[in-house]
Amino acid sequence: MSTQGYAAPARALHWIMAVLILLTIPAGFVMVQPGIGRSLQNALFIYHKNVGVLLLLLVILRIVWRLRNPAPPLPGHMAGWQAGIARLTHLALYVLLVILPVAGYIRVRAGGFPIESLDALGLPALVPRSDALAETAKAVHYFAGLAIAAVVAMHVGAALLHGIVLRDGVFSRMWPPVGRARR
Ligand code: HEM
Repeated sequence: MSTQGYAAPARALHWIMAVLILLTIPAGFVMVQPGIGRSLQNALFIYHKNVGVLLLLLVILRIVWRLRNPAPPLPGHMAGWQAGIARLTHLALYVLLVILPVAGYIRVRAGGFPIESLDALGLPALVPRSDALAETAKAVHYFAGLAIAAVVAMHVGAALLHGIVLRDGVFSRMWPPVGRARR
């Protein structure tokens, strides 16, 4: 079945972010496990903090793009409740993708820790050093991390259902990552 797809820049941004998010979430959970080696832990922390900041920039770009270029309509055969859940899931992803890096940034900066890429650019901390603020941001980051893991699992599950089982044209709205969309 053919349906109208997303524009090439939206698809490219989606798949770049998808890969980075699917690496950043497990990195976040693994790096805080007691007993993992120090060098692996350091590498994961450096990856997680810096790619997390990059993801904030990418999601801002994506939100700006989306506000100027509305999503193509969902195929007419989708039930209203399905379209509603899809829209809610997408909204939750955008909101969590802003909350997570901002809370992560505050947790790290208020805790007095480095963010290597921003330090190399000479960007000073935008929040004061404060243990109370760091602990609050840590809790927000933790619960938002659990929430995004659940929402991403739903989103990937729905995408696979549409792409492999139903083959109803919903998956090909966002596929392929580069080049012309299928019509
Ligand atoms: C979209 C971006 C991000 C996602 C999806 C994400 C996700 C996660 C997840 C799932 C965890 C494990 C749960 C936990 O223990 O808190 C975690 C931990 C952590 N994240 Fe992120 N994160 C993101 C961005 C950032 C950024 C930008 C920073 C800092 C610059 C950061 C710093 C941390 C730290 C320090 C931890 C360890 C928990 C702690 O001790 O505070 N994260 N993250």
